[in-house]
Amino acid sequence: MQTNQLRKGMWAVITGASSGIGESMARQMGAQGMNLLLVARRLDRLEALGAELKEQYQIEYQAIDADLSLAHEAKQVFERATAQGRVVQVLINNAGVGVYGPFQHYDVEQYLKMIQINVTALMELSYHFVGHMRTHGKVSYIGNVGSIASYLSVPYFSVYGATKHFVKEFSEALSYDLKKSNISVTLIAPGGTYSEFTERSGQILKASAHTNMMTSEAVAKIGLQGLFKRRRAIIPGWTNCVAVLFPRFFPAKWMLALNHWVMQRAVSYKKVSS
Ligand SMILES: NC(=O)c1ccc[n+]([C@@H]2O[C@H](COP(=O)([O-])OP(=O)(O)OC[C@H]3O[C@@H](n4cnc5c(N)ncnc54)[C@H](OP(=O)(O)O)[C@@H]3O)[C@@H](O)[C@H]2O)c1
Repeated sequence: MQTNQLRKGMWAVITGASSGIGESMARQMGAQGMNLLLVARRLDRLEALGAELKEQYQIEYQAIDADLSLAHEAKQVFERATAQGRVVQVLINNAGVGVYGPFQHYDVEQYLKMIQINVTALMELSYHFVGHMRTHGKVSYIGNVGSIASYLSVPYFSVYGATKHFVKEFSEALSYDLKKSNISVTLIAPGGTYSEFTERSGQILKASAHTNMMTSEAVAKIGLQGLFKRRRAIIPGWTNCVAVLFPRFFPAKWMLALNHWVMQRAVSYKKVSS
């Protein structure tokens, strides 16, 4: 039997499925016949996406509107996803936000929300779903979307980068904790990707930025391949793979200056509110 056939009918939760990488993952998982639990705030988008994929691939779906910047919303997502005895075998913690610019440029509330979405909700969803997956015992997959900023310290992305360092350290340690179980945990660490993230994070791309940008579709495809191969970590794009090696060879002081220089050549910023 083809591996895609084995996944047919599996239920998968994808947070941040209303745009970008999460939407692309939903489309690709739908094409494999997987049933989808689509999570984000923009319910209209989730409903439209789910209905389209249902029509195209005869899958089942449920749109779950949730604001993961609110404490305890993650628990409600888990309860809605697993209601009526539904067995979930895939969790993709993809929802994430960032703001780019000097630290004092943004309100502290924006940073607190970012930490809630990128760190707390991701950990909380992982906690509840690991329990659920252990109980049902079927082969299961958790994919946590970090960033190449999980490996690099990037000035002007200080809080965002720190949240993505959490995603890496948490995912890798959890994958080891669970290595004797049926549950794999994969860190998916993209570099610059065309999506709504650029605009929402206050980044204005300069011409040089486009040389290393990937599409959401390509990132989703490579990420899902790594996820279903039960890889510990997957970094889409060879330039990104090279970039994350630099801190192994150069002192932190040099790396900070280099990352700042690279980012300033590629990106300027404007203030965004979220
Ligand atoms: N694009 C890049 O260059 C890049 C690079 C490295 C890593 N990443 C990571 O990739 C992941 C996906 O980002 P993307 O590039 O696809 O950006 P995107 O198009 O902006 O997608 C972000 C998703 O997160 C959801 N989201 C945001 N705030 C939320 C909240 N409070 N509650 C629930 N859902 C929320 C959004 O949905 P709603 O607004 O409808 O809620 C949207 O579906 C993020 O974790 C990001 O950090 C992106």
